[in-house]
Amino acid sequence: MYKTKIIDLKKDRETGIKKAGKILKEGGVVAFPTETVYGLGADALNARAVKKIFEAKGRPADNPLIVHISKITDVDKIAFVTDTAKKVMDTFWPGPITIVLEAKDIVSDAVTAGLKTVAVRMPENEYARELIKESGVLIAAPSANLSGRPSPTTALHVKEDLNGKIPLILDGGECSVGLESTVVDVSNDKCVILRPGGVTLEMLKAVLGDVRLNDGVLSKKEVKGVPKSPGMKYKHYAPRAEVFIVEGKNEEEITSKVIKHASQDKEASKKPVILCTDKRANVYSGFILLSLGQSSEDIAKRLFYTLREADDIGADTIYFEAIPENGIGLAVMNRVLKSAAFKKI
Ligand code: TXA
Ligand code: MG
Repeated sequence: MYKTKIIDLKKDRETGIKKAGKILKEGGVVAFPTETVYGLGADALNARAVKKIFEAKGRPADNPLIVHISKITDVDKIAFVTDTAKKVMDTFWPGPITIVLEAKDIVSDAVTAGLKTVAVRMPENEYARELIKESGVLIAAPSANLSGRPSPTTALHVKEDLNGKIPLILDGGECSVGLESTVVDVSNDKCVILRPGGVTLEMLKAVLGDVRLNDGVLSKKEVKGVPKSPGMKYKHYAPRAEVFIVEGKNEEEITSKVIKHASQDKEASKKPVILCTDKRANVYSGFILLSLGQSSEDIAKRLFYTLREADDIGADTIYFEAIPENGIGLAVMNRVLKSAAFKKI
């Protein structure tokens, strides 16, 4: 057990980064902010340190980790770069996209979960890059939640899940993207999106032309054999309440479905909570609402936050209005579908 400490980087930037860097150097784990979600980091080239991440999160050992770097040339230390990867890196790094490449031998199975590939990302968040530099190591980091829970977008979320299990959380405020990075397999010069995120399909197509979406991004389809992205096979992003995605031909149909189901819940003495954008709030008066803001970017940023909020207020059911699967909407729908175990009404 640790007495988990939180250091606010807006107040104590130098102390925080130094302390965290030292812990990482010495083989410990630290939670830190990125622009996507908070990460739980350890020295990527120290297998014993990496194992501590799996222990703290309760993460299955066959789910590989992303290695975070602070300068582009560091990718050559751990992976073989393809031309397609180079284009992605030059255009979108630093930023919310992770590339999967053939791994060099220096990377242990603790990070790759025995795959021949390794996932690499250069985050945009300045605290994250400063921490990588200060620690002098490459940082393996999954999202800093307990396995299966919605990813943390604030330092308090991390504390909720990992209090006592890790020594230090660096607080860098709310994450600006709010969903995990896009993961693309560019190990053989094609580009396949394994997990949609902040860098969108449209943005990738504009640079690369041909880009494919992996099966399983929007459907439950099981991939036979070794899954391309092992993380996508687990139950994920799940709050304690039961999540339902509401679809319809138009807003009126969606509204009436939500009201019908939420009313039935109330009659059954359950507590329904509706997640909706501000402009939709007035049609649901009388129900408990949590705001997703206005744009798709707002929805992305607030999704995990509101799922956790719904748990905090004791929701039994959560209703989420489906949004178009373009731009960041694809990533939003991918995460909500998983948190709803693909239940649509
Ligand atoms: O935004 C993010 O990516 C955050 C922050 C902390 O950087 N990290 C994150 O890590 O979301 P995690 O572990 O929660 O998700 C990593 C995803 C998983 O779906 C995992 O299966 C996949 O990346 N992945 C990792 N290595 C892979 C590999 N070699 N091949 C295919 N997928 C891989
Ligand atoms: Mg995760």
